[in-house]
Amino acid sequence: MNLSITDFSWWHVTKAHKIDQEAFNATAWSLETFWSELSAPNRYYIALVDDEKEIVGFAGLAFNGSDADIQTMVIKPEFQNMGYGKKLLDNLIEKIKEKKSNRVFLEVVADNENAIKLYKSRDFEIISKRSNYYPNGKDAVIMQLDLRKK
Ligand SMILES: CC(C)(COP(=O)(O)OP(=O)(O)OC[C@H]1O[C@@H](n2cnc3c(N)ncnc32)[C@H](O)[C@@H]1OP(=O)(O)O)[C@@H](O)C(=O)NCCC(=O)NCCS
Repeated sequence: MNLSITDFSWWHVTKAHKIDQEAFNATAWSLETFWSELSAPNRYYIALVDDEKEIVGFAGLAFNGSDADIQTMVIKPEFQNMGYGKKLLDNLIEKIKEKKSNRVFLEVVADNENAIKLYKSRDFEIISKRSNYYPNGKDAVIMQLDLRKK
């Protein structure tokens, strides 16, 4: 199976919402959040699609002044740990460099070792921790990539 990256479009929303619910349960985005993210200014969303153009993962950015935030990144479980997370992240970082943002931030559940490893592999650093941050009581870590250091 060959997966490729394409622009995230409105017709991906229903499937993306399902993938998100399976990955994040209680903290998954609502359909309203998907629609408002897609229509908000200064966003960049990409989809990972299979040969039939079915969405199997996605990721997105928000640009805030001179900084950027990674809003989300999810890959369907059967396609995880095959290098596609790195491909999505590298695509986002290329866009961030193109826009000349200084720093990139993200927040992730503190016990999500796979995601933290992925971000560290691209030089993100943990800069702070927020206790009891999520509705399920889990802690968050805030990670940053400072492109001014590059
Ligand atoms: C986090 C996530 C996006 C990573 O995507 P992925 O395609 O699995 O990641 P990759 O295959 O590109 O792997 C990148 C690195 O992540 C780590 N990793 C990913 N999956 C892993 C696993 N199952 N076990 C151990 N390490 C893993 C590894 O360090 C890997 O680097 P390596 O191959 O050099 O060892 C994916 O696991 C996912 O969708 N998880 C559920 C949603 C989520 O947690 N999103 C992040 C919220 S910020």
